[in-house]
Amino acid sequence: MSSSDQYAVFGNPIRHSKSPEIHAAFAAQSGQNMVYRTHLVDDGMFAESAGRFFDNGGKGLNITVPCKVDAFQFADSLSDRARRAGAVNTLALQDDGTIYGDNTDGAGIVRDMLENLAWEMTDRRVLILGAGGAVRGILSPLLARNPRHIVIANRTVEKARLLAREFSELGEVRGCSYEGLAGSQFDLVINGTSASMMGDLPPLSPELLSETACCYDMMYSAEPTPFMRWAASEAAWAVSDGLGMLVEQAAESFCIWRGIRPNTGPVIEQIRASLN
Ligand code: ATR
Repeated sequence: MSSSDQYAVFGNPIRHSKSPEIHAAFAAQSGQNMVYRTHLVDDGMFAESAGRFFDNGGKGLNITVPCKVDAFQFADSLSDRARRAGAVNTLALQDDGTIYGDNTDGAGIVRDMLENLAWEMTDRRVLILGAGGAVRGILSPLLARNPRHIVIANRTVEKARLLAREFSELGEVRGCSYEGLAGSQFDLVINGTSASMMGDLPPLSPELLSETACCYDMMYSAEPTPFMRWAASEAAWAVSDGLGMLVEQAAESFCIWRGIRPNTGPVIEQIRASLN
């Protein structure tokens, strides 16, 4: 009898992670013999815990907050997008025994927008709110879709400017303050701040949205987030939370591990239903 291949998600906190349910659905759908668990990583223990996981025959890991930079350092080799993100959310055991690190967050958001929501990105004026790790993780896949430009707005403006400079060789991208947005218009606005988690919203001036603007919150919850409510009040053409991104980044990881692309539509619906 063949035993199941072992996978897990490492992070802290981890108890409420949706990843086990998502990967179980992918595995059932495609007849893969695998188990996927959660693992709470104690402070400073990532490398030791991940090392033990792979030494014991583990095949792959997802990594979530606050361990993505530790995972970046742990990997033996890296994808280009992970190197640019400076963070890894997927580790995969290779045939030669080494560990490959990738970052599927950006591919997840791009796929959700293009495939699930049918939002165009090419030649669009894109505004990203926030300049932390979550935003760094998505910039190179977004720039690869050839937007007209990306503006990164952040409370701490210097962080936005530094991040923009770092990615400027990939396309037109600049950093500014929230006040500096006055008078500009955008076709796509992505909230990558953690403000929603505190029920908060960055200070956004009115008239930022073009007539057909789409607004995307990288957070998700059963109820619309403060950013989503703001977008609706500003008559955004379309509004979405980040649940599709969560499922799509998982699908991308699954594909790296198993070589099979899952059908994400029914899984997004399943997870959405479980939020209520
Ligand atoms: P993450 O890994 O989730 O991106 P992070 O690196 O701590 O977390 O970044 C959080 C982001 O949310 C930052 O851009 C932060 O702005 P600052 O760099 O100025 O701190 C932003 N943020 C958090 N709370 C916010 C709030 N209430 N209003 C506006 N921006 C906020």
